[in-house]
Amino acid sequence: MAPGRSQPRAVLFDAYGTLLDVYSVAQLADELFPGHGQAVSVLWRDKQIEYTRLVTTSNHGAHYQPFGVLTRAALVFALKKIVGGTLAHDDFLLEHEPAIEMLLAQYQHLDAFPENLAVLKQLKAQGIPMGILSNGDAAMLQAAVHSAGFDGLLDYVISVDPIRKYKTHPDAYALGEQATGLAAQDIVFVSSNAWDALGATWYGYQTLWVNRYHLPFEELGTQPSRTGADLRDVLDFFKA
Ligand code: LAC
Repeated sequence: MAPGRSQPRAVLFDAYGTLLDVYSVAQLADELFPGHGQAVSVLWRDKQIEYTRLVTTSNHGAHYQPFGVLTRAALVFALKKIVGGTLAHDDFLLEHEPAIEMLLAQYQHLDAFPENLAVLKQLKAQGIPMGILSNGDAAMLQAAVHSAGFDGLLDYVISVDPIRKYKTHPDAYALGEQATGLAAQDIVFVSSNAWDALGATWYGYQTLWVNRYHLPFEELGTQPSRTGADLRDVLDFFKA
C-alpha cells in the first residue's frame, strides 16, 4: 500500500508505452529505412505526444483530431525530417505511402511487454477491476487490445476521444473516475510515460511509474506514489 493511502480498488493502465511497446515498430522502420529505424520510432513518438498537447491547449480544442490521425501526421513528420531529403510534400507522400501504411498497420499490432499478460491475469484472478485510460481512439485501442491478447481481461477501455482532450488535461483523467465510479485516490494509475504518471499524480490518482528504461522522472517537484521496473510492480499495491 502506498504510504498514507488506502489500498486501491481498481487499476487503470496507460496503453501506449505502458502495455504496448511503441518502440517495437523500430525494427520494421529499420527494414524500410535502413539505419534510421530507431531515430524514426523515437521522433514519431515524441512528435505524436507533442501534437496531442498542441491540439488540446490551442484555441480551446478547435484543432482536435483523433489519436490515429495525429499518429499518422507525426509519422510523416518524422520521416520527412529523418529520411525526407528534398522532396516536396506531395512527391514525398507518393514515394513513401507504402512504407507509411506498413508502419501504421504495425502500430495497430504493437508488441505487448512480455510480463503484461500474466500481470493482467493475476489482477483478474484477484477480482480487481481494471482497464485502460488512453489517448488512443476506440478503434486503435480495440485492435491493440485484441492483438496483445488482452481480450476479456479488461473491465474498461476508456478513450479520451469522446471529450476531444488528451491527457494530461484533467477532463481526460476524470474519465477514469466516471467509468469506475471510484475517486481517483482509490485507483492506481499505471504509466511508463513519466509525464503521464506525473499528470495522474497531480490529478489525484495513486500512481505507479513503470520505469522500464532507467530514466529520470520529471523534474517538477512531484513524485509518483511508487516507481517500478516493470508491470509486475503493480501487484505490490494489492498485497495484504
Ligand atoms: C496513451 C499514450 C499517451 O496510451 O501512451 O494514452
